[in-house]
Amino acid sequence: MLTNRPKTKILVDGGDPAETLRIKSLLGFVDGQTTNPSLIAKNPEIQQLIASGHTLSAEEEKNEYKKIVQSISPHVGEAGVSIEVFADLNTTAEEMLAQGQEMFSWIPNAYVKYPCTYEGLRAAQTSVQKNIRVNVTLCFSQEQAAAVYAATKGSKQPVYVSPFVGRLDDHGEDGMDLVRNIKKMYERGDGHVYVLAASIRGFNHLLWSFALSAELATVPGKVLEEWAAKAFPMPDRNFSYRGVDASGKPLKAIPYKELDLNLPWQSFDIAHELTNKGIQKFVADYQSTLRRSA
Ligand code: E4P
Repeated sequence: MLTNRPKTKILVDGGDPAETLRIKSLLGFVDGQTTNPSLIAKNPEIQQLIASGHTLSAEEEKNEYKKIVQSISPHVGEAGVSIEVFADLNTTAEEMLAQGQEMFSWIPNAYVKYPCTYEGLRAAQTSVQKNIRVNVTLCFSQEQAAAVYAATKGSKQPVYVSPFVGRLDDHGEDGMDLVRNIKKMYERGDGHVYVLAASIRGFNHLLWSFALSAELATVPGKVLEEWAAKAFPMPDRNFSYRGVDASGKPLKAIPYKELDLNLPWQSFDIAHELTNKGIQKFVADYQSTLRRSA
């Protein structure tokens, strides 16, 4: 069990309540959980249904999602359970908000995940005005994180922004630099947005998230198991990290940008090809569980 708990809250990145319980007994606690349409599609019960030829209607899929988060919810701490709206590239803010409001009522500790797009940020902006906790996901740039900050200013609850480290690494850029840059940019802010390091692929990502003082990190069960197997190492003063690709070549550094957090959120250039690709992948995984006629 983990005795020296890091300041960074640890969330399980998954869609299987049994896994959350397994990790909880390994660590002694779980601060929270993040889910997304791909992780829900991988849930063992849903996979079993599909293997037996029972694809789901959209309503059944939603009910399965609800069941999954309801069984995870009581086992996690104050970082809550993030539930993602089903959105494609044409989904409007109003459509996302309608889903978000419903999902927020499923459990007492919900965070609603919206994609970091123009429509997603409009939905996040209205959500915080309605006291719905939000997690803005698929964040790949500092501009996007600045827009999240500006769009949710005034929120009474912490807002999460999720930079996707591993997917930037896969793209040849050092994803942890984005976490560092956002943390640095937010030093000049009011503290209402918490950085949730996401798309973590190995325990070095995790240790560097601790060293950068990310408020939260969401971590796949197998990475937490690897960390536990190594007796929970923590970064010391000399710990340093540089992302490398599969051949050991250093990944491209992401430079820090001076951005003014007081500008209107619409003034930031939030377009990012990986955000769009991420949405398309979520749609494909979600649809893989659905009946064709649904
Ligand atoms: C975050 O909320 C996402 O669920 C997750 O971290 C995505 O990670 P992946 O890039 O490994 O799919």
